[in-house]
Amino acid sequence: MIVPPDTVSLADYERHFASRIEPALRAYIAGAGADGITQRANREAFDRLRLMPRALRDLSRASAASQLLGEALKHPIIVAPMAYHRLVHPEGELATVEAASLTRTWMTVSTQASVPLEAIAERAGGPLWFQLYVRPRPEETLAMVRRAEAAGYRALVLTVDAPVNGIRNMEQRAGFRLPDGISAVNLAGMEPDGFVPARPGSPVFQGMLRRAPTWDGVRWLCAQTRLPVLLKGIMNPDDVDLAVEAGAAGIIVSNHGGRTLDTLPASIDVLPLVAERAAGRLPVLMDGGIRRGTDILKAIALGAAAVLVGQPVLHALAVGGAVCVAHMLTILQTEFEVAMALTGRANLAEIDRSVIFERPGA
Ligand code: FNR
Ligand code: LAC
Repeated sequence: MIVPPDTVSLADYERHFASRIEPALRAYIAGAGADGITQRANREAFDRLRLMPRALRDLSRASAASQLLGEALKHPIIVAPMAYHRLVHPEGELATVEAASLTRTWMTVSTQASVPLEAIAERAGGPLWFQLYVRPRPEETLAMVRRAEAAGYRALVLTVDAPVNGIRNMEQRAGFRLPDGISAVNLAGMEPDGFVPARPGSPVFQGMLRRAPTWDGVRWLCAQTRLPVLLKGIMNPDDVDLAVEAGAAGIIVSNHGGRTLDTLPASIDVLPLVAERAAGRLPVLMDGGIRRGTDILKAIALGAAAVLVGQPVLHALAVGGAVCVAHMLTILQTEFEVAMALTGRANLAEIDRSVIFERPGA
C-alpha cells in the first residue's frame, strides 16, 4: 500500500517521513535557521488563534474557488518553491507536478529544482509559477526568465529574503551534503554564486552580496518580462509601497519557513499588517506553518488571497511519491472546506476577520 493506512493528516506524513529519512537529509528539509525560534513561532501563532463560527448559514452553493492573477483557482493552496525534490524521491519535481495536476493545485518550481524546468512544465496539467533567485550576472537571470516564459510558466516569484543563506546550524551539525547526481540542473554552466574566498573584505558583504538584488533590480525584472512578478519574503509593511511602485503583481508574506533569519515574527502575525498596507492594490499571499485547513481559513481571514505549502509536500513525496502528495493536498483541500462549512462561510469573501475569535477585553 502506497499510503500508510494510519495517514489522515499532514502531521502523520511528517511522522512517517521522520521515521524513513536519514538524519542529515531530515535536518536539511526541517532546516530551521539558528535556534528554530521563527519556525516554531510559525506554528505557535496559528495555534493561538481561535475561530468564531456562525451557525445555520446556507452552504448549499458554497465554494472554495477564487480568481488569482486573472485565473481560476479551485482551492487557495499553492505548492511553495523548494529546492531538490529528487533528494526524497527519484522522480522529484515530476512526481510533485503530477500530484499538483491531479488535485488542480498550482505549483511553484524552484530555481534550484533538481529536474529541468521544461520537463516539469511538460508534465503539468495546470498553472506553474517559476521561483527566481537572481543570478550574479543579469544575462543569466534573463536567460532563466526566457526559459520560464517559453515553457509556459504563468508568473515569476522573486525570492527577496535570502540574498545569503541563514545560519543553518541544524544542517551543519548533521553534516548534510548534496548527494552525487542531485544538483540545481537549471543552473548548469552558470557562474557559481557562492562565497568568493579570494576577495578581500567580508565574504558576506563583498562576496555574495556584491551583486544581490535591490529594488532597482525588481524594477529591472518587471520591465524585462510580461509575466507577473510576485515578491516572496516581504515581512515589513513599509516595503509594500516600494513593491507596488516597482511593479510587483503580488506579495508573498514569508519568513522562508524559518530557514533564513531566526527570530523573525511568525508570517501569520505580520500578514494582517502587510495586507492592510496593500489595501487591495495587489494580492497578498502567505506561507510558513500551514498544516491544517483551519490554518488556511485563518490566513484568508487575515488578508491572504492564497497560501503556499512547503515542507508537507516533501514529507508526502518522501513517503510515497505522487500518490502521497496528491493525498496530502486532498486532505488539506477537504480540511479547508470543512473549516469553511463549520464556521458558516460559503465563499472566500465571507472569510473575514470576524471568523477570528477576539477575547472580550483583550
Ligand atoms: C524551501 N524554501 C524555498 N524558497 C524559495 O524561495 N526557494 C527555494 O529554493 C526554497 N527551497 C526550500 C527548500 C526546502 C527543503 C524547504 C523546506 C523550503 C522555502 C519555501 O518556499 C517556503 O517559504 C516555506 O517552506 C514555507 O514554510 P512551510 O510550509 O515549510 O512551513
Ligand atoms: C533553502 C533555499 C534553497 O531554503 O531557499 O534551502
